[in-house]
Amino acid sequence: MTHRTQVAIVGAGPAGLLLGQLLHLNGIDSVIVENRSREYVIDRVRAGVLEQGTVDLMKAMGVSAGLERAGLRHEGVYISFLGQRHHINFPELTGGKAITVYGQNEVVRDLIDARLETSRPLYFEAEDVSVGDLDSTTPTVHFRYDGAEQEVRCDFIAGCDGFHGICRPSIPAGVLAIYERIYPFGWLGILAEAAPSSEELVYTLHERGFALFSMRSPKVTRLYLQVPPDESIDNWSDDAIWDEMLRRMTTRDGWKPNIGRITQKSVTPMRSFVAAPMRYGRLFLAGDAAHIVPPTGAKGLNLAASDVLVLGRALKGFYGRGSMEWLDEYSDLCLRRVWKAQRFSWWMTSTLHRSPDETAFDHQRQIADLDYLTSSRAAMTSLAEQYVGLPAEVSFESAGLKA
Ligand code: FAD
Ligand code: PHB
Repeated sequence: MTHRTQVAIVGAGPAGLLLGQLLHLNGIDSVIVENRSREYVIDRVRAGVLEQGTVDLMKAMGVSAGLERAGLRHEGVYISFLGQRHHINFPELTGGKAITVYGQNEVVRDLIDARLETSRPLYFEAEDVSVGDLDSTTPTVHFRYDGAEQEVRCDFIAGCDGFHGICRPSIPAGVLAIYERIYPFGWLGILAEAAPSSEELVYTLHERGFALFSMRSPKVTRLYLQVPPDESIDNWSDDAIWDEMLRRMTTRDGWKPNIGRITQKSVTPMRSFVAAPMRYGRLFLAGDAAHIVPPTGAKGLNLAASDVLVLGRALKGFYGRGSMEWLDEYSDLCLRRVWKAQRFSWWMTSTLHRSPDETAFDHQRQIADLDYLTSSRAAMTSLAEQYVGLPAEVSFESAGLKA
């Protein structure tokens, strides 16, 4: 079967779904093709922190009802080291900005509901997805659905299929420059049925390594522990996980996470990765398909959202004014913000984790870094403005949204 659309979107993660909605609001037709099932995409436990700009974008796109009902507004974070927690207040340092804790699962669930309401096509469980004719004016996406071969002919393809997708590898060898850093550690993450014992996140550097206290709701705590990158989750009984969490997180004033039944656990390796440019011919990469950050700065999902804003504007420019100008700017505009988020995520990661190859000097420097951070208003302001999110490169109005 052959379909014709304006924009074919590969991947129904946050990037693909947000783009579909933004195009819909601008009257631009799209087809979204996802290789996993709807349940799989929704149940995948991942990000939790939304920048102010991501929340504002979802509001402007009319997909914020769930977020406004169940999202937890956080006005700061704690940085903990040498057994003491230090608070960083966001609104005070950023002119009123904050972050919102709302699971990526919920974001994706809300966006799928919004997509289905538009009645525009969204294929789950598409098999053998491939893209072609990328340097022509009618690129194609092929896949199999319900046993039948499908071809989507379009004007543009948005590669929103994440780090392990097929879009980036479909670009001919030698076109992309790859910038990469692999870290000598990973995160063991758990979800626990335990009321959060702190109203805000706690990032801890402990002698035994990094730990992070986060949450998903007033009844669910989300916790992370630095472990070796190839650590098997089978090596960690629930009791061993709680022992290590408490050892690293308990502060001298007696604060510690509440313990509860562990409902999910997994290990994720960490890397920084950028592919540039984020475009080849009529294929535009967005989100994790083009770049990965280590999760310490909570930037991945937010970068996907800011890429989409720039791409939505560029496609609106093409269909509204017949101009390629904003599409030609797309990669450079995105990469400016991407590299600043890369720098921030690398800095948060290297300041808060213990490296197997670090020296005693390196560790003392880390402590001094954190001591400076938590005692200097200038340093706290720098962290706060990056954590709540640096400004988008383009305005909401230029992408067809009301601010
Ligand atoms: P994805 O979410 O990966 O979506 C890509 C989609 O494409 C998927 O649905 C996939 O199934 C689909 N796909 C793949 N291959 C194909 C194919 N061949 N054909 C069709 N479809 C395909 N970010 C934050 O901002 N804040 C956080 O607090 C945070 N915490 C994190 C914690 C962890 C443990 C992890 C792992 C990540 C975290 N992130 C965080 C990062 C965030 O989850 C990602 O950056 C985000 O999911 C990127 O969205 P995306 O849509 O670009 O890619
Ligand atoms: C999360 O809640 O999953 C989370 C929070 C902050 C991070 C990373 C992940 O930096």
